[in-house]
Amino acid sequence: MYIDTHAHLDFPEFKTEVPAVLGRARESHVERIINVGVDYETSKHSLDLARKYPEIYAAVGVHPHCAKELSIEMKGQIMTLANHEKVVAIGEIGLDYYHLKRSSQYAHYPNRDEQIFCFEQMLDLALETGLPAIIHNREADADILGILKSYHGQLRAVVHCFSSNADYAEKILDLGFAISFTGNITYKNPDIHEAIKKIPLGSMMIETDCPYLAPAQYRGKRNESAYVIETARKIAQLKGLSLAEVEEETTKKAKKFFGLK
Ligand code: NI
Repeated sequence: MYIDTHAHLDFPEFKTEVPAVLGRARESHVERIINVGVDYETSKHSLDLARKYPEIYAAVGVHPHCAKELSIEMKGQIMTLANHEKVVAIGEIGLDYYHLKRSSQYAHYPNRDEQIFCFEQMLDLALETGLPAIIHNREADADILGILKSYHGQLRAVVHCFSSNADYAEKILDLGFAISFTGNITYKNPDIHEAIKKIPLGSMMIETDCPYLAPAQYRGKRNESAYVIETARKIAQLKGLSLAEVEEETTKKAKKFFGLK
């Protein structure tokens, strides 16, 4: 059994196709999916999907894109969602400096302070609820590491869509946090490949981040949960392991980390 630990099946790209997507996932032995919110609405939609489909679980939180929307009221509303038994994480939350560095095109994008404030509020929520955090990191390696360090020993967290290098991976793992990989590992990316070779299989999880980041052979198309197997295949190839070993270990890790049945 595979677990897609990060999907956005509530996004408009999937419209009414969720049952078909779940059918194809099942055919590929992808039997658990964590649907991840990026703001209050999508967090609510993630929980709606989790209530409707037994194989779906939800993560709730405010993404750095939406950092300006966070209010005390919204934090309370997200806390209420988080109390549901099918909510297994606070996410996705984190820092995204990609757009910040291109501020001429993205003038209204939340600035560094706004993003850090939102991120820390959400990490506090993870501590308060006892749920693990799903961390989004785009071009913000140093700040992510610095903030995670201050939560070290209290927080469980996974750096999702890991796109940095082996050295950074080691620092994350040294703090006791986990790492997960998307279909972007099937693209040409020597730094990520080096990291995968060095990271112990037992610290890794796999995900699609669908509808984004379709694996190489589907690149440019909509991604979906069934394709998480391509990420497993690439890990197996890079580490010289069998696909079955990668399936078993990443599933074991995800079940334990998120407390899935
Ligand atoms: Ni995502």
